[in-house]
Amino acid sequence: MNNFHYHNPTRLLFGKGEIASITPLIPKSAKVMMIYGGGSIFKNGVHDQVKKALEGFEVIEFGGIEPNPKYETCMSVVKKIKAEKATFLLAVGGGSVLDATKFIALAAKYKGEDPWDFITQKSPAPDEALPLASIMTLPATGSEMNASFVISRESTQEKFGGYSELIRPLFSVIDPMTTMSLPPTQTANGIVDVFVHTMEQYATCPNNGPLQDRQAEAILSTLIEEGPKAMATPNDYDVRANLCWCSTQTLNGYISCGMPQDWASHEIGHELTALYGIDHARTLSIILPGVWRTFLNEKKEKLAQYGSRVLGLKGNVDEVALEAIEKTEEFFESLGLPTRFKAYDINASDAARLVSERFTARNKPGFGEKGLITPEIVRQIIESRA
Ligand code: NZQ
Ligand code: ZN
Repeated sequence: MNNFHYHNPTRLLFGKGEIASITPLIPKSAKVMMIYGGGSIFKNGVHDQVKKALEGFEVIEFGGIEPNPKYETCMSVVKKIKAEKATFLLAVGGGSVLDATKFIALAAKYKGEDPWDFITQKSPAPDEALPLASIMTLPATGSEMNASFVISRESTQEKFGGYSELIRPLFSVIDPMTTMSLPPTQTANGIVDVFVHTMEQYATCPNNGPLQDRQAEAILSTLIEEGPKAMATPNDYDVRANLCWCSTQTLNGYISCGMPQDWASHEIGHELTALYGIDHARTLSIILPGVWRTFLNEKKEKLAQYGSRVLGLKGNVDEVALEAIEKTEEFFESLGLPTRFKAYDINASDAARLVSERFTARNKPGFGEKGLITPEIVRQIIESRA
């Protein structure tokens, strides 16, 4: 097992009606900027619940953060925050709203000219950020308990992740009731995103972390059991609660303690969202099996362990690893997420060329758990998913 530091100060408020518990957690003197998306929170009653909990506070609102939040939109929120002198940010919505809020919290304190520069690492990130918290309405990203965000820039068709310890939410509310209004496509996207987050931290190479392995396997088994139930009986509270808890547990830094990580499917997937607008999870359902098939030899021990412990497959390591990939593709497809580009009428060779050229132009070093993924390998992986 590798050395690690672990510190996660986000307070979680989990369960029915917990939005009402936020009142004492926000400083009394705060001027709260409530940030949300395209309007789902008005339809499912979340906006009303938040407004009630914020009675007595000075509150301003910004609605209109889009899925795959845009840098351009975030910058207009920064302007408003500065004009209104808001002191506390409350994200209410899915991962996009929270990621936007995290970026805004840093950008509002940035002293340089263009905050995009700290995302592309041309300049250092700010050393302070506005305090923030979240009401999370979509189990997928784990953003509610981590220090990451992903922002897209429309003008350049780029999508990049960022990280700062300064933007961990002070608290996050996860009320599974709020997720019952999700359309089936978003429920399915969430299940697959959480599944792939687990795999990016698990399906690497053995590293003597039996506890972390079994924690990851517990999440994978739960998703395979509860995912189809959420699609069939979307109003089942416990099923929704289990998905929410898997989502948070998977990406709060816990299961990766001391373990190698991959994240290649995410890195390639972000380029596909930026270029073609494919939903985040739907890029992953195409690319993850491609990364696995390309690196079958390097990953076969963990894939076979997953195949035998989680899927109950029998056979030798090579057979079980391969069958585990096939069963995973079937799982994604059963939730309605395609695993091939042909479902989107996208020419895989064109996509392969465009993405690998982008990585070459950025001089991107080899990535994946062993740093073996070069632009040429990226081209092969994408092309193999036609
Ligand atoms: O905008 P509104 O009207 O709120 O509608 C949203 C949006 O259209 C809707 N929605 C959210 N909660 C709902 C709901 N509709 C009905 N009922 C509810 N309870 O769902 C749509 C998608 O929302 P979005 O926030 O975009 O989805 P998600 O949570 O999957 O976030 C995706 C973004 O997160 C990034 C992705 O790259 C993408 O930009 N990620 C962030 C990560 C992180 N911060 O650690 C890790 C992930 O790997 C991921 O990259
Ligand atoms: Zn993801």
